[in-house]
Amino acid sequence: MNTIGVLTSGGDSPGMNSAIRSVVRACANYDKKCIGIVRGYSGLIENNTKVLNTRSVRGIINRGGTFLYSARCEEFKSAEGRKKAFKNLKDAGIDGLIVIGGDGSFTGALKLEEEFNFPVVGIPGTIDNDLFGTSHTLGYDTALNTVMEAIDKIRDTAISHHRLFFVEVMGADAGYIALNSGLAIGAQEILIPEVNMSFDNLINSLKKSKTAGKTSSIIVVAEGDKTGKNVFELASRIEETLPKYETRVSVLGHIQRGGSPTCFDRVLGTQLGVKAVESLIDGKHGSMVGIQNGKIVFTPLSKALKGKTKINKELLRISRIMNT
Ligand code: ADP
Ligand code: F6P
Repeated sequence: MNTIGVLTSGGDSPGMNSAIRSVVRACANYDKKCIGIVRGYSGLIENNTKVLNTRSVRGIINRGGTFLYSARCEEFKSAEGRKKAFKNLKDAGIDGLIVIGGDGSFTGALKLEEEFNFPVVGIPGTIDNDLFGTSHTLGYDTALNTVMEAIDKIRDTAISHHRLFFVEVMGADAGYIALNSGLAIGAQEILIPEVNMSFDNLINSLKKSKTAGKTSSIIVVAEGDKTGKNVFELASRIEETLPKYETRVSVLGHIQRGGSPTCFDRVLGTQLGVKAVESLIDGKHGSMVGIQNGKIVFTPLSKALKGKTKINKELLRISRIMNT
């Protein structure tokens, strides 16, 4: 293992830069050449690479986004595209690859392993926190804090106007962002795809809060939740059923993917980068490096993709106690 490649792929997330920096500096520490691939798998197919040294990654630990850029690359999903990518990896003399991304990126990484026996280690980089084998993905903590700060501001105006706000947050098919941010901002209800909440229960909860003297409320809705067709349809149905409520909808959107990473994400990215490099050097690959109970652990990529982390339903129960 003389040359290690690194790329970021799929939805970017705060902390990706700290992981890139860590990979580059760990390579330098072990006298390995490090090659950065620009724009994820697209860069691999288009041969868009650059040699990285310790100075290339100065001043990026505090920056959101990804210094190597990211992409969603359709061509890599085809066998032809992956053949091109593999040829370019070989031609560049890359012996092992570190893929920083989410479940889609890991699906691609696993194919490189299985189809070409090419050594790959994954670093979980997504705000969605939807990978098995790590309690936290890179960017999740920052996204939670971004959501919390944004909803704190929405709450100010909700209180002033006695309004009911529906705030949609990201998370793809997972409710981690909604659940934890919802608890942190004192949501009236938290709607997540993992737990079915009937429309009637939502109505009852709102009626109960009105009776208890609440003049404004916030419902946090995960983008993957199916209580309504979408957050706008849900809000207007609520307004039809409870005409006394003046409702507003706020979709936080891509604000959740940007910004300077939190201390947690910087420290996590730094640990995972070093461990990913060490793993490749030790000849261990086909896995994702993550964190569990404060310890760095490895999980086979196939398991990271197929395994299901159970959402902590206890948090929902506690959230409801807060709303009595
Ligand atoms: P994320 O990694 O954040 O989940 P995507 O789901 O968009 O983001 O996946 C990122 C990239 O990973 C895709 O654009 C594609 O290049 C690659 N990828 C996703 N699914 C597959 C697949 N089934 N086979 C090969 N590559 C894939
Ligand atoms: O996977 C990260 C994520 O931000 C999801 O939470 C969201 O569903 C999706 O990516 C949005 O993707 P795009 O940036 O392509 O709109």
